[in-house]
Amino acid sequence: MNLRAWQLLHLLSDGEFHSGDALATQMGVSRATVFNDMTLAENDGVYLQRIRGRGYRLPGGWQPLDENEIARNLGSAVDRFRIEVMQQTESSNTELLRRSNMQSGSVLAVELQTAGRGRMGRAWQSGLGNALTFSLSWRFDCGLNALSGLSLAVGVAVFRALRRFEARGVGLKWPNDIQTARGKLGGVLIEVQGDMYGPSHAVIGIGINLSLPVKIAQSIGQPAISLDQVCTLSPERNHLLAALLEELAAVLDVFSEQGFSALRAEWERCHAQQDLPIRLQMPDGKTLAGIARGVGDNGELMLETEQGIRRYNSGEVGA
Ligand code: BTN
Repeated sequence: MNLRAWQLLHLLSDGEFHSGDALATQMGVSRATVFNDMTLAENDGVYLQRIRGRGYRLPGGWQPLDENEIARNLGSAVDRFRIEVMQQTESSNTELLRRSNMQSGSVLAVELQTAGRGRMGRAWQSGLGNALTFSLSWRFDCGLNALSGLSLAVGVAVFRALRRFEARGVGLKWPNDIQTARGKLGGVLIEVQGDMYGPSHAVIGIGINLSLPVKIAQSIGQPAISLDQVCTLSPERNHLLAALLEELAAVLDVFSEQGFSALRAEWERCHAQQDLPIRLQMPDGKTLAGIARGVGDNGELMLETEQGIRRYNSGEVGA
């Protein structure tokens, strides 16, 4: 999408209808140009309402991310991060992985991901302003082996941040889905590079639904929910990102020094399915049924079956 289309989207950020004429006048272009730019935006995944006689509208509006505003809300953690906001790219994880020699603490928040990625090769759908999508680059002295519980540790940080905004009924689903009884609220995608014996480097990607236009909800392929449905007062996007980064810094420090075992009990307290019956779908397609008995010191799922407690490092948990 071109710069002018982005400028038009900023004019629509209030969530109100704006006529094609008014937008054209404000931008000093023709109505046809406005029409074409809005089509470009839609083609890139921006969900717009167009109603004859009323004009264009971004349902729910859009609170643009702002590097300074995020930094202002970071408190003493501000020196731990270098924050960059990008209007558009395919995926914040892909973009950070592409940049070699990223410093630990580099944050890339993206307003519009055109090819967001989820775990197990799935797509991650989000429009403009309806989600918070960002990635954080972090270095560890330990080797890749020791990073096995990292994705669960990150789930704990997300849980803590959401609790600050009094999100109701939110829990973690193994390994790191942010879950409610009515559907998935967010997810974590961690991609690691490095040596078995260290050092290692992780790109930690987090996506949280803030509102769910029907079109996006329908494209997700599983029950999904957004923060506006579980918070009395939806957090401002910059504030939410700052809270997430603060909690990530705290959790990643504990993880680096003591490993996941120091966060294990807290993870189990956040676990939405602790001591409940679950089904675990294995990568080979087989399904195992049992009682979820929490996780081990390396983040592995402990499933109680008729044969006793078994530990699993992969698979997909269902109810
Ligand atoms: C999942 O639950 O499957 C993981 C979803 C992770 C989505 C986030 S959005 C920011 C970052 N960039 C991506 O392409 N994916 C992650």
